[in-house]
Amino acid sequence: MTYQLYIRSFADGNGDGLGDVAGIRQRLPYLAALGVDAIWVNPWYPSPQADGGYDVSDYRDIEPAFGTLDEAQAMIDEAHALGLKVILDIVPNHTSDEHAWFVAALAAGPGSPERARYLFRPGKGPDGALPPNDWKAVFGGPAWERVTEPDGTPGEWYLHLFDPKQPDLDWENPEVRGEFLDILRFWFDRGADGFRIDVAHGLVKDPAMPDLGDDEEHLLGTPDRADHPHWDLPGVHDIYREWRVLADSYDPPKLFVAEAWVSSPERLAAYLRPDELHTAFDFDFVRAAWDAAELRATATSSLAAHDRVGAPVMWTLSNHDITRHVSRLGRPQSQRSADPLHGDNGETDVELGRRRARAALLLELALPGGVYLYQGEELGLEEVEDLPEELLQDPTWERSGHVERGRDGCRVPLPWAPDGPSLGFGDAAPWLPQPASWAAVSAASQEGDPTSMLALYREALRLRRDLPGLGAGTGADVTWLDLGDDVVAFRREPGVACLVNCGSTPVPLPAGTVLLSSVPLDLSASAELPADTAVWLAV
Ligand code: NOJ
Repeated sequence: MTYQLYIRSFADGNGDGLGDVAGIRQRLPYLAALGVDAIWVNPWYPSPQADGGYDVSDYRDIEPAFGTLDEAQAMIDEAHALGLKVILDIVPNHTSDEHAWFVAALAAGPGSPERARYLFRPGKGPDGALPPNDWKAVFGGPAWERVTEPDGTPGEWYLHLFDPKQPDLDWENPEVRGEFLDILRFWFDRGADGFRIDVAHGLVKDPAMPDLGDDEEHLLGTPDRADHPHWDLPGVHDIYREWRVLADSYDPPKLFVAEAWVSSPERLAAYLRPDELHTAFDFDFVRAAWDAAELRATATSSLAAHDRVGAPVMWTLSNHDITRHVSRLGRPQSQRSADPLHGDNGETDVELGRRRARAALLLELALPGGVYLYQGEELGLEEVEDLPEELLQDPTWERSGHVERGRDGCRVPLPWAPDGPSLGFGDAAPWLPQPASWAAVSAASQEGDPTSMLALYREALRLRRDLPGLGAGTGADVTWLDLGDDVVAFRREPGVACLVNCGSTPVPLPAGTVLLSSVPLDLSASAELPADTAVWLAV
């Protein structure tokens, strides 16, 4: 059970409106009390912050706005003292354009070893004025940017699958490979227990760089063709085999979790073969509608694919790139847009979304495998959909020509208290404004309320640790039960059943003792599971 910390928005320890390492250190006891086993910290390295820290200018230091290397070391040590593992975030697909390597590449000119670390190509057309191919950037616009050569003439183009401030590295270059092994070692030696790998499916590109046709790129998109020239190429696996050897050279071994948006559970499982990565986020619940058949099919296929390679599924409902699941689940499920992760598919009913989110938590925690929680989901936070346009910071907003608002709505700073300039986030106004309604769902407001979302998370995590029938396991440990079309139901041994009613009417509860329910159940009248709720039963 790992808790994701989006550092800019978790807690502000130095009163500048931006989250930081000091804020994390203050809140570590809260995380330990929540019952998580590990934390994953989004990139905390020096960065111009063109993409929330995923544009790294120095992989071996800490962004000054977040703290110092010494503070980071103290945080790692303090987390360990509380029994929490620490997962950091490595960004190997691209650096910042302000990284020393890219600055040197621009200065050194075409054909230089400095340029060979990135993907520079001559342009097409007369004078090379057209991009080398038609690839598009995930954040909008072409994936190529033309540079001005040191002599002042218009020159080569460089590839950036994301923002122009994020030039892609050339992973065919042994120097790049060596550098990243060294960076991993740097943090492993400082106590990091593992790494989340950013865009793990994107590092290798087809050297022929063929045109793609009309394909649109989406940040969380899934390549819908087997021969895609820059997503999920076979060559990425060689890189992770090397990384695995490094991880295994430590005692205890270090761990990886991949962010890989691929087209099927089988393609994902390929990253998890025994000599590659240990784990990868499973985004299939993120893509699934609140529908019993869909959820069950999703769980079944993910478990089967992972079982074939002997790896645990890492269930995920939200992260810093995705519309918060309270909002996704609180929208009409029948009219989902082409992009279910961000699409605008009708009014959000936050209360309905919270009710379903409570049930979804019991579902994912009852399945075999691990779970990643995104900060604030334990408070039941919804997507903030009405941030003023002038405050939007996600590069998607500018690059899409103000068509797509981007991901700021799931990155609003956490409310820790019901009052103050930032609802307890820090001493100053936060970098993105919080809705006034969040005063009522702040961590302090929920403290002591046994019906709160926070209480449900704590109790569910406690039970999951204590009950041998929950937590680790494989698909073989799940016996699916048939309780009607609207119910996801399964049993695990010894003697735990999980039932999720995704329908709009109550369903009868089978015999058993309630261990935990997503809403208080009144069993005196009739033993029923209400709509949009879940229960764990001892059976
Ligand atoms: C995935 C990260 O989660 C996202 O926030 C980032 O924008 C892209 N990778 C590019 O690094």
